[in-house]
Amino acid sequence: MGPRRIGVLTGGGDCPGLNAVIRAVVKTATLGHGVETVGILDGYQGLVEDRVVPLDRDSVSGILDQGGTILGTNNRAAPARYADGTDADGKPRIVDATDRCLATAQKHGLDALVVIGGDGTMSCSAPIAQAGLPVIGVPKTIDNDLVGTDLTFGFTTAASTATESLDRLHTTAESHHRVIVCELMGRNAGWLTLESGVASGADVILLPELPFQPEVVCDFVQSRRAGGRGFSIVACAEGARIAGQETVVARRVQGSPDPIRLGGIGALVADLVERETGIETRTTVLGHVQRGGAPVAADRVLATQFGHAAVEFLLQGAKNQVVVLRNGTIEHIDLMEVTGKQRLVPTDHPLIRAARSIGTCFGVQ
Ligand code: F6P
Repeated sequence: MGPRRIGVLTGGGDCPGLNAVIRAVVKTATLGHGVETVGILDGYQGLVEDRVVPLDRDSVSGILDQGGTILGTNNRAAPARYADGTDADGKPRIVDATDRCLATAQKHGLDALVVIGGDGTMSCSAPIAQAGLPVIGVPKTIDNDLVGTDLTFGFTTAASTATESLDRLHTTAESHHRVIVCELMGRNAGWLTLESGVASGADVILLPELPFQPEVVCDFVQSRRAGGRGFSIVACAEGARIAGQETVVARRVQGSPDPIRLGGIGALVADLVERETGIETRTTVLGHVQRGGAPVAADRVLATQFGHAAVEFLLQGAKNQVVVLRNGTIEHIDLMEVTGKQRLVPTDHPLIRAARSIGTCFGVQ
């Protein structure tokens, strides 16, 4: 017999389309199969702390186009390495809270979990799945860096938001004959910067996968000015780095499945461009704007397909799987195939080749 009561949680950084998945999960389960659903608040933290709410058709009405998540999320709580208060010297006390998660699931009669999250959330699910509670993952992230799926929902909306912002920077940079360096999210993957950089016609695109040489960027900006274009737009991924140097880390978050938060490379690039070229330069850090707002149509559709498929696969007996999109088809793959890995931009990606052929500089020879 398939599951009769399913718990749903959203983990990791939020992204547009989470509510569309929750809606599809709840409606498919309750309307399609008479299976009950409950929501777990604030990701794995809610499972550890037993914060669970009922979810029915009414609770998910009108949320399809809303950004964020009605369940709340958390990118710091990992059940197996849970920060449970502080010890005597003020340091976070890290404990294994897997049993507390299982106890919450048992108390609420949950016989499966739908976990909507990125790489960190999927990795956090592994001990729970191994302890016997069936888990099905739904891949979200604006970073688009989950292995096994051609696309994560949230990415298309974020790329569109970033493109619009870069377009806006374009007009002000051109008016002032300045260089504007825009730092974009994406962690160690350059998908968001590559796509929005190409879509907005950025002059320079700096990706984590292609460590750059500052002199190549500066020469390019200078040659544009010499050729009559006084301004340049540099789309710089937060994970981009100077060849031979480390990535720039903004902070470390204790207890988080991925404690490193990147940031600062944009300002560093702006400083060196201004110093070396003498051209007035500004930095914009796009930040969490990229994660907010209503999902675009394509993300609403993908999120709905993923949420629906998660329930259908569970009812067909799938356990410890992740729903993925492969060549236009929704399938599922083993959770373990996804955890602890990142899907990076191949350095010979056709979009990089196309951009180079139309004159975009990637900071390398
Ligand atoms: O993974 C999504 C993401 O937005 C990354 O692009 C970014 O590096 C990180 O989360 C930011 O995390 P936080 O919300 O903790 O600042």
